[in-house]
Amino acid sequence: MKVTKTANSRLSTIDFNHLGFGAGLSDHVFICEYKDGAWGEGEIQPYGALKQGLGLHALHYGQAVFEGQKAYRQTDGTIAVFRPEKNWERLNKSGARMLIPEIPKEIFMEGLIELIRLDSEWVPRGANTALYLRPFLFASSEFVAARPSEEYTFAIVTSPVGELYTQPVKVKIEQHFTRAAQGGVGFAKAAGNYGGAFLATRKAVQDGFNQVLWTDHAEHAYLEEAGTMNVAFVVNGTLLTPALSDRILEGITRESILTLANDWGLQVEERRISVAEIVAAAKDGSLQEAFGMGTAAVVSPIDGLGYEGEIFPVPSPNDGVAMKVKNALADIRYGRAKDHYGWMRHI
Ligand code: COI
Repeated sequence: MKVTKTANSRLSTIDFNHLGFGAGLSDHVFICEYKDGAWGEGEIQPYGALKQGLGLHALHYGQAVFEGQKAYRQTDGTIAVFRPEKNWERLNKSGARMLIPEIPKEIFMEGLIELIRLDSEWVPRGANTALYLRPFLFASSEFVAARPSEEYTFAIVTSPVGELYTQPVKVKIEQHFTRAAQGGVGFAKAAGNYGGAFLATRKAVQDGFNQVLWTDHAEHAYLEEAGTMNVAFVVNGTLLTPALSDRILEGITRESILTLANDWGLQVEERRISVAEIVAAAKDGSLQEAFGMGTAAVVSPIDGLGYEGEIFPVPSPNDGVAMKVKNALADIRYGRAKDHYGWMRHI
């Protein structure tokens, strides 16, 4: 693989003690182009500008999908990535929905690993930190005809991150806007799904919430996702999460948490969950916990549900299911516990 190293590292400009989420991008990127029906050779370059002009197809028609994953500094100082093949698979599932050609596994994995190796000093060492990895695929022809692009680019940028939410979050059960409709692109990590959510999220924030709790497009009566996370509830000791559909992102954190919960013998139900059921459980005290699950969010306790002008408090116990899964995942990810599931890919 061709590797061009930067002559001006920005590493010293990063405050590793106050990382936040997603601000500083690492020194290098991986980039690979699809032309004339085939992927070329991938290469690593210094982070920099695109070579295309303003006719860039992805900007006009949104043929663009992405992934979010993380590399973790292990207790022995080495680095490991969590379930990277799952992200490769999901990127291609998203890409297929947006008519983007499949990126071969070797290009994805080799690009990811070589990039992390080169920017290994960007993998933070602090508690609850990681190097966030953002592989993405976008339409890179330059024309404005409304038809699929002919050229595509696969790229990876990375960013050292801390926690997305350091406190429990309050979510607003959305009754007006819709994130995804049946037959649409909600299950895909399509760029426009996120852009389309910003207005509703802005309004929720103006109303005093941190995020939107999305409901179904038809009736706004069933719970789907919370902001950029999958969502789970603990009601009378049972872990409930909305069943996957073409409107819900197939979260890798979600699947990992369900695996742990099932192995611990917890009662788990993946099914349709109504707003009425959860509001009633919040009112009668049987709603013991609610939390979001995602790569960026990890496990984020939800301590309030906003619905029809009222806020229903939700407990966020330190010894509940959310904290237990958060700690168990962290132990595996940072190499403090044995990786029974073979989830960590060591670099
Ligand atoms: C992730 O968890 O990786 C996401 O996709 C959320 C991101 C949009 C911040």
